[in-house]
Amino acid sequence: MFENVAMAPPDAILGSTEAFNNDPRADKINLGVGVYKDENGTTPILGSVKQAETRLLDAESTKSYLPMPGAPEYAAAVQALLFGRDHEIVAAHRAVTAHTPGGTGALRVAGDFIKQVFPSARIWVSDPTWANHKGVFGAAGLEINTYPYYDQDRKALAFDAMMRALEDVPATDVVLLHACCHNPTGMDPSSEQWQAIARAAETKGFVPFIDFAYQGLGDGVEEDASGLRTLCGTCPELLVASSFSKNLGLYRERTGALTLVAGSKDAAQRCFSQLKLCVRRNYSNPPAHGGAIATTVLNDPELRTLWEGEVKDMRDRINGMRRLFVETLAAKGVEQDFSFITRQRGMFSFSGLNKEHVDRLREQHAIYIVGSGRINVAGMTPANMDRLCEAIAEVLA
Ligand code: LMR
Repeated sequence: MFENVAMAPPDAILGSTEAFNNDPRADKINLGVGVYKDENGTTPILGSVKQAETRLLDAESTKSYLPMPGAPEYAAAVQALLFGRDHEIVAAHRAVTAHTPGGTGALRVAGDFIKQVFPSARIWVSDPTWANHKGVFGAAGLEINTYPYYDQDRKALAFDAMMRALEDVPATDVVLLHACCHNPTGMDPSSEQWQAIARAAETKGFVPFIDFAYQGLGDGVEEDASGLRTLCGTCPELLVASSFSKNLGLYRERTGALTLVAGSKDAAQRCFSQLKLCVRRNYSNPPAHGGAIATTVLNDPELRTLWEGEVKDMRDRINGMRRLFVETLAAKGVEQDFSFITRQRGMFSFSGLNKEHVDRLREQHAIYIVGSGRINVAGMTPANMDRLCEAIAEVLA
C-alpha cells in the first residue's frame, strides 16, 4: 500500500527549517520561520513564563483530561486580552473560546466549523497571506478566494483594491484579516482603514475572521487589539484565532485559542456545541501546560507587568534590527531604497527579494529566508547583520 506514495512537497516555511537543520555550514543563518531570537541568537524562555511554570509545578495536582474547549479560566483570560476585561461582548457572554493547539489549531477548528455548519461558505484571504492559510482551509474543505492586499511597487497596502474586492463579498462568506503584524508583509491598516473595513463588513454582512498571532509585537498589547475592537463595534459576529506562541514564547507548548462572537448568548452556546464537535473529531481536548502558563501570567499582576515589559523588549529589539538592517544595507553599497522596512510591523519584512535572490542566498551564503522574500527580522542580531547585508548586496549587484 505504501510503496507507491509520492513525496510531498516541502512546507514553504517549516521545510526551510528542515533544510537549514541539515545544512552542515557553520556560519548558516536561519531567517525563515517566525521565531524570536535575542541579541545572542537564542530563543529564550521568558522570565514571566519561568516563574509561572515554577508555581504550576508546585500546585499541579492531576494530569486528567481537560474539557474539550480547555479550561474556562484560560478562555476568560484570552477574552479579556482580546476585547478588554469589561467589554460588552464579555459581559453579555456573547463570546465562547476553545483552547486549541496553537493558532494553527484554531484556524483548522474554525475551518471545520464553517464547513460543518455553512457548507457553501467561502473564505477570503489576503494576497499574499501566511503560506499555510490556504493549506489549512483547503484541508477543511473550504473554497478559498483572495482579495488584494499589498502593492509591491509602492511597498504599501493596496487599500483601494482591497476595499473594492470586499465590496463584492456576499453575506454568506467569511473574510480572514490579520489583526496586526500582517504575515508576510508587515503592513497593517491604519485606524481609519480599520474603520472602513468595519463599515464594509457591517454593510455587506460577511463574517470577519481575525488571525491574531502577534499581539504586542506591533505597537503594544492594547494598541494591537484596536483593529479587532473596531470590528467589534459594527459586527455582531466574528471569529478570532489567537496564539501565545510569539508573545509568550510558548511555541512548542501549542497554546492558541479560537474565539467565536455571536449576536446573543444563546447563539454563542449553540455555536460552541458545534465547535466542541470539531475539537472532539480533531484532537479531543487540548494539551494543558501552555494554557495554564498563559492564565497564570495574565491573571497575576506581578507576572503580567513582567510579561508586558518582556513583550516590549522583544518589540523594541525587532524595531532596532529593522533600523540597523536598513542602515547596514546602505553601508554595504545597496542602492535600492529599503527604508520601507522600518514602516513594517512585527516579526517579518517582506523584502522584495525574488526567488532567484532567495535561492542564491541559500546556496551561496547559507542564509535561509522564505521563498516569497519574507525575512524574519526577529532572527537578526548585531552579530549576523554584516554578513547578511553583504550577502544581500552581492545577490542584488
Ligand atoms: C511563520 O509564519 O513563520 C510562523 O507562523 C510559524 C509557522 O508555523 O509557519
